[in-house]
Amino acid sequence: MSQLIQQLLDNNREWVQEKLAVDQDYFNRTADGQHPKILWIGCSDSRVPPDQLTKTNPGEIFVHRNIANLVVQTDMNMLSVLQYSVEVLKVEHVIVCGHYGCGGVRAALGTHQYGLIDNWLRQIKDTINFYWELVKDLDETAREKRIVELNVVEQVYNLGKTNIIRNAWQSTGKPFLHGWVYDVKTGLVTEHTPAIHDDAGIDQICKYAASQINLKVRPANQYTSVDSLL
Ligand code: CO
Repeated sequence: MSQLIQQLLDNNREWVQEKLAVDQDYFNRTADGQHPKILWIGCSDSRVPPDQLTKTNPGEIFVHRNIANLVVQTDMNMLSVLQYSVEVLKVEHVIVCGHYGCGGVRAALGTHQYGLIDNWLRQIKDTINFYWELVKDLDETAREKRIVELNVVEQVYNLGKTNIIRNAWQSTGKPFLHGWVYDVKTGLVTEHTPAIHDDAGIDQICKYAASQINLKVRPANQYTSVDSLL
């Protein structure tokens, strides 16, 4: 077995011992079931571990992660996690957390083709197009950061348009939606949406309602060859 994998297994045994040393009943309790109050929709990036950066314990956060923390209406995986956590676990908050230095956002801003993933990143390319007038004059670093932030806002908006969230709001007034960005350089989280729990809140962050954009898209020479076909 590779040394790295052996190390992980050794660490696991050590972790169990550490947990039991503090609390003999720890695993009996976790085996009883989960009652998380939070659903986390984050990036798969290995540098953004939701429980560590929020100092929470196993059982506290239900997690869905994908590249660039996207909420895509046709993603059965995301929708299943959302439906189960909202309707069965009854989470009170859904946090979409992006992060600066996101490889997915960086790739979407560039013109290089990476294969299958390009299709997934189309969602972000749409966001870039929508907000191009807002970001076109920024330097590369500032533009990438701004798109990371706007991408999070877009995904919160997408969440607010799912039947799952809309039905939950109508019957319980929950969950609250939050758009966060984690800074890999400082470890700090910043908020990029208010806490939203109704249609009025979603309207507030709607790019059309807020007139944050106009319909000019990126100039054609900024597109990859695949984009230009669409
Ligand atoms: Co990322």
